[in-house]
Amino acid sequence: MNEIILKCENLHKYFPLPAEGELKVLRGLDLEIVSQSSTGIIGVSGSGKSTLLHILGSLDSPTKGKIFYEEKEMNKMSDEKLSNLRNAHFGFIFQFHYLISELTVIENVMLPYFIKTNRQNNGYAEKLLSDVGIFERKDYYPNQLSGGELQRAAIARALMNKPKIIFADEPTGELDNENAGKVFELLLNMVNKYKSSLIFVTHNNNFAKDLQKTYRLYLGQLEKI
Ligand SMILES: Nc1ncnc2c1ncn2[C@@H]1O[C@H](COP(=O)(O)OP(=O)(O)OP(=O)(O)O)[C@@H](O)[C@H]1O
Ligand SMILES: [Mg+2]
Repeated sequence: MNEIILKCENLHKYFPLPAEGELKVLRGLDLEIVSQSSTGIIGVSGSGKSTLLHILGSLDSPTKGKIFYEEKEMNKMSDEKLSNLRNAHFGFIFQFHYLISELTVIENVMLPYFIKTNRQNNGYAEKLLSDVGIFERKDYYPNQLSGGELQRAAIARALMNKPKIIFADEPTGELDNENAGKVFELLLNMVNKYKSSLIFVTHNNNFAKDLQKTYRLYLGQLEKI
């Protein structure tokens, strides 16, 4: 059964403007994410896509409104509870890979698991690396990888703790068209295989057709397209 795992109600986010007043980026936005689903969020630059994704992923807090993860209200959780929730249930992939340059690829992939359990799990990290097609790069350092390979490693890392939701903010934005398409397809296959939900933010309307639901963020609200 696919139940609602993440839900936000009447979400607002305002940023103070330098002189006076505030920039109202999100204005009363509602969204429901069900388990094992894929959701696209498109919108022009500056429309608030990253702001929304960060708030849904508990990396930032809303000015107003409620967010529920599995029916628990995230705004009411302590910082410690939230960071445990993030580490155990959420995975993140950004436009920049944010791999740690001093760690090898496999060490980077294992890091979320190490933070959670204080143990290593080479076997699972190797399995993920072979699924994303870079097993033979596992002992390389990030600066020895191509842009597409770095994003493949970031996908493996995001899946390491078997997350319920993967938040992806323009993960193909830095890649050429061919590689962007391949990484997008890979990400969809990986979330299907590992039964995560995907929330995928992009400028690229071409990706929308492969996602189960797509919304346009416009004037601080989501329109279904
Ligand atoms: N911390 C902040 N302080 C003030 N304003 C902010 C802050 N973060 C974002 N903004 C503003 O909020 C608006 C939305 O920004 P956001 O990064 O969410 O857009 P976006 O849709 O992700 O754009 P892009 O497609 O270029 O990544 C922008 O006008 C931005 O300048
Ligand atoms: Mg953005």
